[in-house]
Amino acid sequence: MEFSIKSGRPEKQRSACVVVGVFEPRKLSAAAEVVDTAAHQFLSEILRRGDMDGKAGTCLLLHGVPGVEADRILLVGLGKEREFREKAYRAALATAVRQLNETGGFDGTVYLTELNVRKRDVGWKIRQAVLAVQETVYRFDRLKSKKDEVRRPLRKLTFCVNHRNELAAAEAALGEGLAIAAGAELAKNLGNLPGNICTPTYLADQARQLAKSHSLGVDILDRIDMEKLGMNTLLSVARGSHEPPKFIVLRHVGGPAGAKPTVLVGKGVTFDSGGISLKPGLEMDEMKYDMCGAASVMGTLKAAALMKLPLNVIGVIPTTENMPGGAATKPGDVVTSMSGQTVEILNTDAEGRLILCDALTYVERFDPECVVDIATLTGACVIALGHIASGLLANHEGLARELLDAGDEAYDRAWQLPLWDDYQEQLKSNFADMANIGGRPAGTITAACFLARFTDKYRWAHLDIAGTAWRSGKEKGATGRPVPLLSHFLMERARNAPKSGGKRKRG
Ligand code: BES
Ligand code: MN
Ligand code: ZN
Repeated sequence: MEFSIKSGRPEKQRSACVVVGVFEPRKLSAAAEVVDTAAHQFLSEILRRGDMDGKAGTCLLLHGVPGVEADRILLVGLGKEREFREKAYRAALATAVRQLNETGGFDGTVYLTELNVRKRDVGWKIRQAVLAVQETVYRFDRLKSKKDEVRRPLRKLTFCVNHRNELAAAEAALGEGLAIAAGAELAKNLGNLPGNICTPTYLADQARQLAKSHSLGVDILDRIDMEKLGMNTLLSVARGSHEPPKFIVLRHVGGPAGAKPTVLVGKGVTFDSGGISLKPGLEMDEMKYDMCGAASVMGTLKAAALMKLPLNVIGVIPTTENMPGGAATKPGDVVTSMSGQTVEILNTDAEGRLILCDALTYVERFDPECVVDIATLTGACVIALGHIASGLLANHEGLARELLDAGDEAYDRAWQLPLWDDYQEQLKSNFADMANIGGRPAGTITAACFLARFTDKYRWAHLDIAGTAWRSGKEKGATGRPVPLLSHFLMERARNAPKSGGKRKRG
């Protein structure tokens, strides 16, 4: 899809279709009013007859509206004006695009971006519009021999803003929206690929390609490198699989050479069978999504590169399968992590923390500004927060606040859970420094408590995306979350970063 920004009167647009909103009950939006006046009350007459009452999710396509230059006018129901918030705004754009896809027109001129969304500025509206549109037209049919049949002549969308003085901000937001959407799309594509295609080796190859096409630095460590580093908890997860594990490092060097990097660590379990602590069969296919943390790191690095963010960002991805092969780790096995701490593996299905803890030790070498890990870590997080918010836990309140704010701004929200020491007791082991599980109560928190034992040296936050990274059921598919949250987090950091010379070395 091609996008552009414009400001101008709706009745003057030479377009296949001009899109305007209608509030419930039967109230024309400002742009619709302007069209109505030019069209001698053509629209209000339609409302009066009861053919469009403004209910959310509805729309009405009109041909031959008098007094307007466009071939068509699309009325989109917005719901009640008082309840018109983020969700309704995105839904209206989705409805519009679905309808435009059904028409024969190549382009649409959209006035929904002029609507007032409480507390949101024009930049927000444009970024969200791009994301909502790209989400609506997304298809994953590359593995079908016959592609899904959709008529899609629509190729170009123009978003309209109220005043000329908003054009510059809207143009900048369009660039950001496109970058974030591209990052989210990469995350979705990687997530939706099945485990037999998206293996650790495949992820490593994709990382190399991403690095090449977007001028990122890349290093891939293989099993031997990991053995030398003593990454035994990571390797203990890989033991049951025939697929070799990989350890991926991607670098976006946008900031001054001396500036400390912001480090993102993504869980990359390309299939989680549970290992010897085998999962039940129901919906086990969804464990192909257990690499969505990794996918979001790659997507976010892509977005950062596309935006040329003036910030140093490092993405780190420990990736492996978790399988119950003959050499697999057994419940009760004790392994020594890269940090030197020993772990009694009481449940081989709590594998995410085992690969992350070695990655969290590894990243110490970057002297990070801060570290954020992203992981489909616990089923308990789905119970606690459902599919709306990602779980957030942190050892630094300022960092937690940054991420919560970024999630709010991106409309890709997270909710904080406590990381109190009191929970650490649940990880006590009789045979090692710690157990890898903490029992049923507070499963998301004890998982984070486990990780916290490896993050003493820097500011750290953990995002549990088990409930937000993909959708189950009829609409099964990756969501691309939390690429928008992470992108906004980095954008805000870039905005506040010193323009030149971070910490300089002396002498
Ligand atoms: N990848 C799963 C977490 C998961 C499960 C995410 C279901 C989304 C839906 C993780 O590796 C796992 O199996 N966690 C266990 C931990 C338990 C053994 C302490 C879980 O949540 O059941
Ligand atoms: Mn597991
Ligand atoms: Zn897992």
